Amino acid sequence: MRKEEVISGIRAEVKSIMEKDSSGHDWLHIERVVRNALIIGEREGADLFIIELAALVHDLTDWKFHGDFAAGDTIRDILGRHGVSEIDIGKVCEIVNTMSFKGKDQVVPMKTLEGKVVQDADRLEALGAVGIARCFAYGGKKGIPIYDPSIEPSFDDYIGKIKGNVKTAMINHFHEKLILLKDMMNTPSGREMAKDRHDFVVTFLEQFYKEVNQ
Ligand code: NI
Repeated sequence: MRKEEVISGIRAEVKSIMEKDSSGHDWLHIERVVRNALIIGEREGADLFIIELAALVHDLTDWKFHGDFAAGDTIRDILGRHGVSEIDIGKVCEIVNTMSFKGKDQVVPMKTLEGKVVQDADRLEALGAVGIARCFAYGGKKGIPIYDPSIEPSFDDYIGKIKGNVKTAMINHFHEKLILLKDMMNTPSGREMAKDRHDFVVTFLEQFYKEVNQ
C-alpha cells in the first residue's frame, strides 16, 4: 500500500474518533500537531512518514484521560489495520509512550529525532493563544477554577491536579507547565517556533495579574 493511502485511511479513522472532543484534544489539535510536526520534521531532516503517523495517533491513549501510560491496543490496532509494518508500529508506539508531560521532574527524554519533532509540535500547542484557549477549555471540562489566589503554583502532585483530583486553579498550570516549555523544546526549529508563542503567554500572564490585582 502506498504511504499516502495509509495516511489518509488513518486520518479518517482518527478524525471520526476525535471530532467530538471538547477538552482541547480535538481533531483540529491533531491537525495542527501534524502540520507543525511536518514543518519541523522537514527542517530537521527527519522521517516524515513516522512523524505523520505518530502525530495523528499521539492523543489516542492519553494517560490524562485513560490513566494508561502504554500506547497499546488502540494504536496498534489502527496502524496494523491500515497496513503499517510492525517495525513502524514499534517506532510510533515508542514515541507516543514517551510523549506525555507528567511534571517538571518526570520528563523521559525522547530517543528518536522523529519523537523529538512530534513532541515539539505537541508542546507548541500548549503555548501561544491556542495554548491559553486549550488550557482553560481543559480546566472547564475538569471543573478547575480559572484563578484562586489562595492556591499557589506548586510542583507537587502534578498528575493529581491535571486529573482534577487535587485542588488547583488553571492559572497555576501556566507556572507549572506552560512557561517552562520554551526551554524544553528538543529541536532548533521547534525552539524557534516556540519563541513568540512563549512571549505571548508571558504577556497574557502580566495582563491577567494586572487585572485581578487592580
Ligand atoms: Ni496532543
